[in-house]
Amino acid sequence: GNKTPVIAGNWKMHTTLSEAVDLVTKIGQGTDKGWRVETIVCPPFISLAKLKELTAGTPIELGAQDVFYEEIGAYTGEISPGMLSGLCRYVIVGHSERRMYFCETDETVNRKLKASIKHGLRPIMCVGENLTENESSNAESVISRQIKEGLKGIESAELLIAYEPIWAIGTGKAATAAYANNIMGLIRNLLKGLFGSEAALNIPLLYGGSVNASNITELLSQPEVDGALVGGASLKADQFLSILKQAG
Ligand code: G3H
Repeated sequence: GNKTPVIAGNWKMHTTLSEAVDLVTKIGQGTDKGWRVETIVCPPFISLAKLKELTAGTPIELGAQDVFYEEIGAYTGEISPGMLSGLCRYVIVGHSERRMYFCETDETVNRKLKASIKHGLRPIMCVGENLTENESSNAESVISRQIKEGLKGIESAELLIAYEPIWAIGTGKAATAAYANNIMGLIRNLLKGLFGSEAALNIPLLYGGSVNASNITELLSQPEVDGALVGGASLKADQFLSILKQAG
């Protein structure tokens, strides 16, 4: 696309507070203010407050990796959208690891998206098929279901979508740029049906799954790919900076 590319680093369950401070400091030092790229880092919850101080006035935006859908109350261990809204601008919702290990469903993803938008957070909604679904040619139907159910009743298009084929996550085997572009075109069409053409064109579509400094340029050259959600390569300052530089 021709909008500003979005590069989001999902640190997952990596980095202590001091490691997070170190990593964001290195990213900040290596960032050129002239790069035309929306840079987002998503550290564990425990580092958000400190990283907010450290990234103030820099081009680095923050995101959380998850959020609960209730406002407040007896939900031991959970974090509400209201708690996050003062700390970060973005929040990842429905990552495949949360769907797989923490029982997230299209319904909980839907509730989390609604709660996030209500609190002014910009959700990065994740969708994607697993290997079996891919090999049985069910990718399109799975993704259609995730998009339609996940976005049910949502009118605001203030969100981003990350397409992450599960077989490409952490495997070193990224989807081909053409395959990603094809599925992301399908997602774009679904979004047009839900939000109208113009709003759908403005929703950044990110690709995720083994993105690195060697494949980012080709992925971003695809018309439907507006950015990337980067896992492993976002934990190494030099690799992440190389991705940002190529994007920007
Ligand atoms: O959220 C990020 C993705 O799960 C991709 O992870 O870049 O390590 O494959 P990866």
